[in-house]
Amino acid sequence: MYNSKKVYAVILAGGSGERFGDNIPKQFKKLAGKTVMEHTLAVFEEDEIVDEIFIVVHPFFRYLVEEMILKNSYKKVSKLLNGGNTRQESSKVGIYSVPDDNSYVLIHDAVRPFVTHKIIKDIVSGLEIYESVDTCISSPDTIVRRNEDEIIEVPERKNLLLGQTPQGFRTDVIKRAYELYEREPFQTTDDCSLVIKYKLGRVGIVEGDRFNIKITYPEDMYFADKIFQVRSMESDEHFEEIEDKIKGKVLVVFGASRGIGKEILRIATLSGANAYGFSRKTNVDVSRPDDVANALKKVSEKEGKIDYVVNTAAILNIAPLESKEYEDIVQEIMTNYFGTIVVARESIKYLKLSKGSLLFFTSSSYTRGRSLYSIYSSTKAAIVNLMQALAEEFETYSCRVNAINPERTNTEMRRENFGIEDEATLLSAEVVAKKSLAVLTSDFSGMVFDVNKNSMY
Ligand code: C5P
Repeated sequence: MYNSKKVYAVILAGGSGERFGDNIPKQFKKLAGKTVMEHTLAVFEEDEIVDEIFIVVHPFFRYLVEEMILKNSYKKVSKLLNGGNTRQESSKVGIYSVPDDNSYVLIHDAVRPFVTHKIIKDIVSGLEIYESVDTCISSPDTIVRRNEDEIIEVPERKNLLLGQTPQGFRTDVIKRAYELYEREPFQTTDDCSLVIKYKLGRVGIVEGDRFNIKITYPEDMYFADKIFQVRSMESDEHFEEIEDKIKGKVLVVFGASRGIGKEILRIATLSGANAYGFSRKTNVDVSRPDDVANALKKVSEKEGKIDYVVNTAAILNIAPLESKEYEDIVQEIMTNYFGTIVVARESIKYLKLSKGSLLFFTSSSYTRGRSLYSIYSSTKAAIVNLMQALAEEFETYSCRVNAINPERTNTEMRRENFGIEDEATLLSAEVVAKKSLAVLTSDFSGMVFDVNKNSMY
C-alpha cells in the first residue's frame, strides 16, 4: 500500500460507442494485438501504487469484460459493475462501491490506453495536499467560447488547460460530491467539476501527457497505432531484458545468408537462443513451399518446438517497369510477396503450439510507391496488408505477427543497388536486428515498427 492509503482505480468502460459509429464500442476495438481496454487495464494492473481495480461496463458488453478478465488473469480487478446511461452515472456506480472512506480513488476512461505510471504517481502524491487532482495539458490551439454560432470570448490561453483522466480524489470527498449530485444534479463531462460545484475542496493539477488521448473517433485508432510505434521506440527496455526473453527460445530466420537476417541470427545466438538460418545458399528458397516446410520440420524435430520465425528474404531490382522482363518481375514477386506468404503459412502450425510470433520486413516505400521501385515497393505494401490480416487471424491462437520497416540500412543489398554511401548516414544491421528481437518477444501484434537512427538499440 502506498503511503498507508489504499488506492482504488475505477475504470469507466460503460460507453456504448455511439460517436465511434460502430457496433462495438471503442474500448473493445483491437490495437497492437490487444483491445484498447486491455492496454488501459495493463497500466493499472502493473502500477505499483494501485491496489484494486473496479471496472464499470455497459451490461450489454459485460460478457466481453468477463472474457477479458479470465484471459488476462488480472490480480487487481476485484469488481465488475454495471454502468449507467451517462458517464456521470457510471462514475457514481464506481465511487459508491469503494468500501473504504479513508482511501484514494482514481477515475479513468477505459478509452485512454496511454496513461502513464508517472501520471498515476503524481496524482496520488497530489492527493496528500489536495482533496482532488486533475490531469491536464496545455492546449496548442486557441480555445474560444461561443454562443450558438458566434464567438463571444477568447479567453487567455495560458489559463486554459485540456482535462484528461485519471482524476484522483480522496474517497470521502468524491462520495460526498455524488450524494450532493443526486440532490442537485447538473450536466458535466468529468468528476472534478463536482468537487468545484459543491465546494468540497481544492482541485490540484498534474501534468498529463499529450499522448494520453481519449480514443473517440474512428481516426483516433490510426493515431493510437502511431503512438504505440513511437512509444516502442522510446521504450526504456534494455537489451539485456530482451536477451533474457530470447534465451532458450527456438528461432528460425529465412534470408539469413547476409544483411539483416544474418545479423538477427548472430545476435539471437549470442543471446542464448537456438537460432537457425536458411537461405538460397542452403538451398531453401522461400518461394518454394516444400523448401520452407522441410526447413521448419527439421528444426522442430531437433528442438521440439519453434517460438519465432523471421523472414528477411527479398529481391530489389531498381528499374522502370517498361524495361523489366516478366521473368524478373515474377521472381521479385515470388520472393518478396509469395515467399512471405509461404513462410507464414508453413510456420503457423508450429507457432500455434508455442504461442509464438512471426516477423516480416517491409520498406519505407510501402506507404507510397516509388518510381523505379514499382514491384519492390508494391510487394512491400502487400506484406504490411498481409501482416495486418494475419495478426487478426493468428490472435485466435495467441500468436503475433508484426513487420519491421528499417530505414536505409548498411547491408550488401544496399551496396549492390546504391554503391558507396556515407556509412554515418546509414542504419547498422545490428540496430535493426536488436529491434527485431525486441518486437518478436513483445506482446505487440499487427504493427509496423519503423527503425531509424533515433531507435533505441
Ligand atoms: O462518452 P465519453 O467519451 O465521455 O466517455 C468517456 C469514458 O466514459 C469512456 O471510457 C466510456 O466508456 C465511459 N462511459 C461510461 N458510461 C457511460 C458513458 C461513458 O462508463 N454511460
